Amino acid sequence: MSDIYSERRSIRRFLDQPIEEEKLTAICTAARMAPSWGNRQCCELVLVRQPETRERLSALLSAKNPAILATRDAPVVIAVCGVPKRSGFYKEVQVTRYGHWFLFDLGLVSANICLKAWELGLGSVIVGSFDHQAAEQLLAVPAGCELVALIPLGYPAHHPSAPPRRELAEFVHLERFS
Ligand SMILES: Cc1cc2nc3c(=O)[nH]c(=O)nc-3n(C[C@H](O)[C@H](O)[C@H](O)COP(=O)(O)O)c2cc1C
Repeated sequence: MSDIYSERRSIRRFLDQPIEEEKLTAICTAARMAPSWGNRQCCELVLVRQPETRERLSALLSAKNPAILATRDAPVVIAVCGVPKRSGFYKEVQVTRYGHWFLFDLGLVSANICLKAWELGLGSVIVGSFDHQAAEQLLAVPAGCELVALIPLGYPAHHPSAPPRRELAEFVHLERFS
């Protein structure tokens, strides 16, 4: 099947070409419209364009992370942050089994960002393995808010093939877990 859900790939090399402001606004709007726990909208985004900051961020990725150069060279890196106590909490009290719905919400935001980017001809990669604390300091993320993922964004300079996916029959269960 050919649609953005099947065709989107993680892109780790980018052309030296800026991203149009309208496209960035469309991507942030897609993030804005993501569903969230209780519509609490815990997400905060930091758009990083300065080469020096991107370089410093890239140095915080784990040593073998395949997205180091992507983080350094992408024209824009989106830092996906969120307020943990806003999702799954009422008046600071956890009200569901899970205390980390903010990660779920930020995942939905990230999916919207990557899919909208792909629809607009842009590539992206979600980066989750880095020194989160140092990155928060670098980007001045305030207390009570956490930086969860980085998303380098730009025009693709390569066209990777799809990594394998499990067959539907392996994870879709009918009526009962089989
Ligand atoms: C939560 C999350 C964290 C990820 N962290 C990294 C990362 O640190 N470095 C990286 O190169 N790719 C990272 N990826 C990208 C995955 O490796 C990629 O999505 C997966 O291999 C499937 O490939 P595809 O996106 O092209 O379909 C991450 C993806 C997700 C969803």
